[in-house]
Amino acid sequence: MSAPGFVYGTAWKEDRTPALVELALRMGFRGIDTANQRRHYFEAGVGQGLAAAYRAGLVTRADLFLQTKFTYRPGQDHRLPYDPDADLATQVAQSMASSLDHLGTDHVDSYVLHGPASGHGWSEDDALVWGAMARERDAGRTRLLGVSNVSLRHLQQMEATGAELPAFVQNRCFAVRGWDRDVRAFCARRRIVYQGFSLLTANVDVLRHPLVAGIAARRQATLPQVVFAFALAVGMLPLTGTADPEHMKQDLAARALTLAADEVRAIESIAG
Ligand SMILES: NC(=O)c1ccc[n+]([C@@H]2O[C@H](COP(=O)([O-])OP(=O)(O)OC[C@H]3O[C@@H](n4cnc5c(N)ncnc54)[C@H](OP(=O)(O)O)[C@@H]3O)[C@@H](O)[C@H]2O)c1
Repeated sequence: MSAPGFVYGTAWKEDRTPALVELALRMGFRGIDTANQRRHYFEAGVGQGLAAAYRAGLVTRADLFLQTKFTYRPGQDHRLPYDPDADLATQVAQSMASSLDHLGTDHVDSYVLHGPASGHGWSEDDALVWGAMARERDAGRTRLLGVSNVSLRHLQQMEATGAELPAFVQNRCFAVRGWDRDVRAFCARRRIVYQGFSLLTANVDVLRHPLVAGIAARRQATLPQVVFAFALAVGMLPLTGTADPEHMKQDLAARALTLAADEVRAIESIAG
């Protein structure tokens, strides 16, 4: 399927991963984000949750948007999905094969570079990995490509070197940086879908702001719902990793909460 309106994130759930993935699908999520990085994600557990949901007749593979990631060696612990001595292109191919095995599918919908090799800029290693990811896409093992944890500089350098631009950018979204305004603007001009994570946890002070509380009270919504409705209003694809079924329901319901243009503008510039 094409990118859904909301993505359920599976980080840090460990043994609860299968049950929470199944629950999220039961509650109505159709987008699932994971990574072949055992340190923070239990991707095989995501696959178990998917299999349980298929068995229960909740969804079919075609109903879902499945996204996973390639993670460089420094972002991993000892539980590697590839041979650390292999070259980077081989590591990408091995990581993808392992992801497909974990997820019980022959393709994912989005394959994301978890983070560039350096915070300073788009490196030769990144170009190599990105090329290998594009070959995975060309072979039909992912429909789309994305990058995560990138700065505007990374994206500008990608573009300047003539690299294919991603379909998705997935970033931690800080209100103090205008909710990643520069990166979002770059994405909007190039029809790249911006996926925002840590919308709640990175912005605890903003959630306490009387302006957000006022909007929530007027709209009879929760503070997280206002933040997610704002994210959707500015064109983001938000992620949530809540483990609470009531929060899952509330987060999905934020799609029906339409903020006024002046409310969106006020939240956009609340802290930066
Ligand atoms: N690309 C990357 O490097 C990267 C990094 C981090 C995360 N991610 C992705 O983003 C996903 C989401 O991560 P996140 O950092 O945004 O944090 P998160 O896992 O979504 O955590 C949100 C926190 O807020 C709480 N919360 C309270 N009310 C809530 C509500 N109504 N809705 C949702 N949460 C509520 C949750 O508690 P309850 O569980 O009690 O609701 C939880 O403690 C991850 O699972 C992962 O897929 C990607």
